[in-house]
Amino acid sequence: MPEQDKKSDFRYATGDATVPWAAVGEHIWHEDLMGLVRLLVMPREDETDFDTAMADVEEALQRLCACGRPAAKLSLGDTVKQLEEQVADFLGCKYACFITNATAGFQIGHQFADLGPGDEVILPAITFIATGVYPPLVGAKCVFADVDPRTVNMDPEDVARKVTDRTKVIMPVHIGGYPVDMDPIMEIAEDNDIIVIEDAAHAFGAKYKGRMVGTIGHFGSFSFHEVKNITAFGEGGIVCTNTEFGEYFNQARFCGVDMSEQIENWLYDVKALPTVTGNPQVPGNHSSTEIQAACLLGQMDRLEEIIRVRRERAEYLNERFEDVPGLVPAPLNTDEIESTFHLYLLQVEPEELGADIREFKTRLTEKGVTNIPHFAPLYHFTIFDQLGYDTDAIAESCPNAEDLFWHRFTHLPLYPLRDDQVETMADLVIETAEEMRA
Ligand SMILES: Cc1ncc(COP(=O)(O)O)c(C=O)c1O
Repeated sequence: MPEQDKKSDFRYATGDATVPWAAVGEHIWHEDLMGLVRLLVMPREDETDFDTAMADVEEALQRLCACGRPAAKLSLGDTVKQLEEQVADFLGCKYACFITNATAGFQIGHQFADLGPGDEVILPAITFIATGVYPPLVGAKCVFADVDPRTVNMDPEDVARKVTDRTKVIMPVHIGGYPVDMDPIMEIAEDNDIIVIEDAAHAFGAKYKGRMVGTIGHFGSFSFHEVKNITAFGEGGIVCTNTEFGEYFNQARFCGVDMSEQIENWLYDVKALPTVTGNPQVPGNHSSTEIQAACLLGQMDRLEEIIRVRRERAEYLNERFEDVPGLVPAPLNTDEIESTFHLYLLQVEPEELGADIREFKTRLTEKGVTNIPHFAPLYHFTIFDQLGYDTDAIAESCPNAEDLFWHRFTHLPLYPLRDDQVETMADLVIETAEEMRA
């Protein structure tokens, strides 16, 4: 197809026209590509060849740019479309949309749910703050469900207790990539006419009873931020759905622009989003770039291998920890559950160690082992006081989250560590437990 005939989400690749309108900002040339290379590939301390290799790359890029022409599209083009098709295929779902980050996907899901003032959203007490920022932004209320003491995931029984006639959304979070028990959550949602938005930020590739996590609720949103199992050059998200709202993903992502219809004397129309209630919602701009999509397509090819290595690391750590008094190894895969092993969930038994996880973490940090200080009960953050939440009462209603946070859990890294680093980490965790018991 000639480039000028291609439909795009917004900017118009007019290709070989005499005066083309393609990516109308300054083109990307070899200096810019070199900037990218310098940013992404750092010299190793012991690497003497680095400067020579960089000079070779610069020369090669210069030659390449001299005989090629710059990309006509940098945002929302064919690469984004290819990524979305590949992700939808991988997840086995109808619609997938590439956006700036997982948080934008939560916003899009909430907008289709028509979340507004006075509505309630149930989310787990322990998660990252991104799960809970959109409801207060539109005057809705976060209701915190307690968590399962074994997995630190949302406890469906507490969700059932906290449903009211104002509950519009439930947000299960697959923490560390370990799937939430989704069947009871979906049952509660169905019985009470509630929309489920899965926070699958950690769980791209996880499975629950044979189904891909993120596709079980009405909407699911994945993160490709730089700390996740795979990344889109540091930021990125995919929102997915099997509902008919997926037809409006392009508009939800980009200001309501509808390229399939035109108003008189203009190239497109702009429309509000349809919602479950029929009220219109005003979409934002969450567009991502072709460059990010290309990165994620490349990383997706390695995903299976990445998860395999992480799983083996987790299995190794479990073997090392399972007979150590005071350590509780992580939950692993079962017949029904396949985790992405984004993080390793370590728990301790303070009764056995004579002190709790705070002392354990301090000692471990002193020994040089990173443990990831990422997930506190959200109601402990000042913002919820500032917004008028009764945070003492909420803490009382989440006894497992309180006990886990103050006394029992932390996360250890599983990302591409060298074998000797994983072994050292295991040694130092065991040594810490033994010192505390003594
Ligand atoms: C549990 C959880 N949810 C949501 C997010 C937000 O993801 P993003 O940064 O892609 O918006 C994160 C990011 O770390 C997270 O850990």
